[in-house]
Amino acid sequence: MNLNNGLEVKALEWMGTSLKVLDQRSLPEAIIYDEYTDAGGVAKSIATMRVRGAPAIGIAAAYGVALSVMMHYSSSEGNWKNNVLSDIQQLANSRPTAVNLFWALEKMQLIINKHIGDPTQTIIQAAIQIHTDDINANQAMGELGADLIGIDKTVMTHCNAGALATGGYGTALGVIRSLHKLGIKKVYAGETRPWLQGARLTVWELAQDQIASTLIADSAAAWLMKTAELDWIIVGADRIAANGDVANKIGTYSLAVLAKQHGVKVMVVAPVSTIDFEMETGEDITIEQRKQTELLADCYINDDSVVSAWNPVFDVTPADLISAIVTEKGVVINLAENGVRHLK
Ligand code: MRU
Repeated sequence: MNLNNGLEVKALEWMGTSLKVLDQRSLPEAIIYDEYTDAGGVAKSIATMRVRGAPAIGIAAAYGVALSVMMHYSSSEGNWKNNVLSDIQQLANSRPTAVNLFWALEKMQLIINKHIGDPTQTIIQAAIQIHTDDINANQAMGELGADLIGIDKTVMTHCNAGALATGGYGTALGVIRSLHKLGIKKVYAGETRPWLQGARLTVWELAQDQIASTLIADSAAAWLMKTAELDWIIVGADRIAANGDVANKIGTYSLAVLAKQHGVKVMVVAPVSTIDFEMETGEDITIEQRKQTELLADCYINDDSVVSAWNPVFDVTPADLISAIVTEKGVVINLAENGVRHLK
């Protein structure tokens, strides 16, 4: 992603012996990179949401394993695998909902288990490959999603499922980027409380590509659907269960319920690495609860004996409220849903 001044911004950049992470907590005011040389630092960058978004979390974790192998293979020959394992566990504990994290760690672990001799170069290449594959998948999904939606449509997105949340190009924002090339009528973005991924990240990211967007308060979504012509809601996903239930940023479920009432279609865009084939339904997905202070910061009463906050940061949208799931390998269309029946 290039800024208006030409400077290239990437959520993650592999430097050969370190990982540069764009601190998304400082956006859009400041572009600050932190550089990590160990897996513990990468785990902290995920837990503190410097890096966020399911695919980006998975890619960061893969680089975290590469850093771990680089550190432990050279320094503790005999028991290096145990040290790497404990780093992998630390990375796995950083956030619970995005399955891409566990998918990437498992992939890296398998390579370590199988490898004979110095694994350093192989493991670095594996992390780079996960990163490259994600960018390619996003471009493919962008085309497929845009093809399904067609030209001159009005869309809305939630949270940030863009280049910032992935290896590059984005999932939901990848579709919006591809739609923009074809001709798009209007893009709405929900602000996405409490962390404001929509207000701070999505509208900023789209603006860098000269894609105009209109920000709405989350609570304005129903009225938007009632009073404006909205064709599609396009979102990413943190985990998709085998039956098609989708965990994504809190508020996605509300949007899908509202969409049904107002005849708006819902598209989920996610790489195959976001599908958890072992999880039968969304009921078993662990929903991350974050600190009460993320909400209470905006509350004028700071006496926690009388005011508390409930802060689940994801929700699960049942498959029957989703019109289409777009992956890099193809599109799954909900044929039972009115309004999508006739789409190809
Ligand atoms: O808490 P976050 O910002 O990591 O949540 C991100 C989302 O919910 C995204 O929609 C999802 O990870 C898909 S990103 C391509």
